This record gives sequence, C-alpha cells and structure tokens, in this order.
Amino acid sequence: MTTTEVNNRDWVALEHQYYQGTFKRQPLTLVRGEGTRVWDSQGNVYLDFVAGIAVNVLGHCHPAIVEAVQQQVTQLVHVSNLYYNTRQIELAELLGQQSQGMRSFFSNSGAEANEGAIKLARKYGRLHRNGAYEIISMNNSFHGRTLATTAATGQAAYQATWAPLPDGFKQVPFNDLEALKAATSEKTVGILIEAVQGEGGIWPSDKAYMQGVRDWCDEQNLVLICDEIQAGMGRTGKFFSWEHYVRPDIVTMAKGLAGGVPIGAMLTGPRTDLFTPGDHGTTFGGNPLASAAGIATIRTIQENHLIENAAQMGEYWNSKLVELCTRYPIIDSPRGIGLMRAVHVQHGLAATIVQKALEHGLLLNSTAPDTLRMIPPLVLNHGDIDEATAIMDLVLSKIEPIA
Ligand SMILES: Cc1ncc(COP(=O)(O)O)c(C=O)c1O
Repeated sequence: MTTTEVNNRDWVALEHQYYQGTFKRQPLTLVRGEGTRVWDSQGNVYLDFVAGIAVNVLGHCHPAIVEAVQQQVTQLVHVSNLYYNTRQIELAELLGQQSQGMRSFFSNSGAEANEGAIKLARKYGRLHRNGAYEIISMNNSFHGRTLATTAATGQAAYQATWAPLPDGFKQVPFNDLEALKAATSEKTVGILIEAVQGEGGIWPSDKAYMQGVRDWCDEQNLVLICDEIQAGMGRTGKFFSWEHYVRPDIVTMAKGLAGGVPIGAMLTGPRTDLFTPGDHGTTFGGNPLASAAGIATIRTIQENHLIENAAQMGEYWNSKLVELCTRYPIIDSPRGIGLMRAVHVQHGLAATIVQKALEHGLLLNSTAPDTLRMIPPLVLNHGDIDEATAIMDLVLSKIEPIA
C-alpha cells in the first residue's frame, strides 16, 4: 500500500465496521517503527513508552530481529511439532542457560503459557499431593484472558461477566504471607504469582514475602509458579524478575521473548518436569519463525548489555519521575523497578495525561484512572528519557490543579 493510500483511508471507521469492539483504542493508527519511535498514518512521530505493552524489548524493527526473520522466512517458516526443529531447540537451550537448567515448552501467548503451567501443577498434584488441584493467585494480578487464566486473575472486572469460571482458583491479598497460609488447604497444589505485578499497576513484591512464599511452598509441597510474562526478558534489570527474589518451580514467559513476534514459553525445573507425550501440545508453539526471532532477541539483549541498560535507565527515569512528582502534585508515589515504572495520578486524571502526552509525541499507558504505567523498550537512552521528561513537564504544566 502506498503512503497516499494509507493516508486516504479512514482506519477508525473501517475498524468500527470490520473489527469486533474489543479494544478501547487511542485515536492513533500506527504504520511504522524504528528504535524507540513509532510513526502514525499522518506522518507524526511518537516516543514509545508503551512498547506494545512490554513486548518490543529491542524497540521497533531492530536490525537483529529483521535479519533473523528475513533469513528464517526463506528457509522454513513452520513445521509441526511432530518433527524436531533446530530453532526451537536453540531457543530452549538459551532459556535453559538463562534459567540454570530449566526445560521449555513453547506456546503462542502468555495466557497459553499460564494454561500450560496450571496443567503441569495439576499433574504434580495428581502424582505428588493426593490429587490437589487448586491454584492460589494474588489480588490485583493479571494472568490472561482464557477462562482458566481469567479465573486466576485477581481482578473482579475481568471475571464478572464470565461466570461460571473454572473451579480450582482462589485469590489472596498480595504481599500478605499469613493470608496465603490461611488460604492453603489440602486442595491447594500451587501458588501463581507475578514477582512484580504489571497490569495491576507496577507493584513489586517484598523480598521477605517472596522468601516466605518459597519456604511455604517447600514446607507444604506446593508448586511455585512465577508469571514473568510482563516482568521478564531483562525489564527489571535481571533476565527474570524472580532473580531479585527466589527461584520458582515453573516460569511463564511471552511478550518480549521474541521481540514482537508472537510466542509464549513455560519453563520448569526438574521437580515439576512431568509432562509426557500426549499431556500437552500446540500447533504453532515454538515454530521456526517465532523461535528465530526469540534467539535474535536473547542474543541481542546479551551482546548489547540491555539488562544492565534497563537497570541504569530505570534509575535515571525514576530520578526524573521523582523530580516531576515534587513539582506537580497531580502525580505522586513513583514506583517500580528497572524499566517497569508507574506513578499515582490524583483525581483519576491518568487518561487525560495519556491523551495530552500523545498529542505532544509521547506514548504512555494508564492501567487504572489513577495509574500511569511506563514500560519502554530496553534500548532506551538518556536522550529518550530527557525528551520524555520535557514532554511530561509540558503536559503536567498545562493540567489545571483541582482543589
Ligand atoms: C503478567 C501477565 N500474564 C499474562 C498475560 C497474558 O498474556 P497474553 O496477552 O500474551 O495472553 C499478561 C498480559 O498482559 C501479563 O501481563
């Protein structure tokens, strides 16, 4: 399609006509990306602090991903999991090295990765905990949109319409070990947790709490599942966010794993490595194309020291947020870790800030009326942060204080 053709079509109207009304979208049609920038159909450029919701870890169209996908697409796009494929095994090898020995199963999304983890935990329960099957997850968590992962998601808004949800899920307050202990019964088989809650508004867990959860799992013969779908891939300044805390039994990944090409992964250590042929499966999961993109993503993260960069840029961005919070009382309580950040917004004005920032060339995201979330690419640099700070400054200076 030529640029004129792109510009001449009313994409919003066409979307209303042909796409189901599932998404509450920003008034923006994106057509191109490079590094930390994206361009809309009218040629306007934006600094991207959303990054496909923590997906574009290398930024947009990173040469390593472009090259890997271009090469792979001329060799082999897809083969069934009835056969071995070198790319899938290479990606699993890289993840095995990162996780000190876990084995992988690839899917296409985060929800599917969590489904696999739930099934694996239930198999563990059947074999090693008298048929226990219940998963305890956390209030304010997010684990996906399938029925089981909706049942595991601790937010009423996501669950309300879909009753009856599958049995075997229960939520407790986050960072509250006593509540977790009190909720554990003979039916419980595992704990599903984000070490840093993402969709819930960027809430890191407490170190002592996570250690307590690990100890409780060991004591009670429970399986600890860490959902790394948003916080993984170096975003928090470690490859896995659990590296700040404790080692889980099962890990789920997706989002940034292949830098934007759809993929999910469920990793497990020896204790829960229980799937045998026929237990689980997928048509597309870990196909050569997605796996090639995953390999390129991990190698680029390693070679370009992007995990260290995420930690350093995270600190720098946080220092700017702290400064902005002191100057503008409408925002406060900066929080987060690495390049996973949020601020609290007074008077439910987060959406207003998102809208105004967009008008000035900065993409942000609100997870709730009082929460602004920033999850930029890991290739972010000081210049990007200075530019984002200047835009935030301008936007915040124009918002009338409410008494
Ligand atoms: C922590 C977490 N788990 C699971 C998911 C679901 O992933 P997907 O949308 O790829 O199914 C998400 C998506 O936002 C997430 O943030």
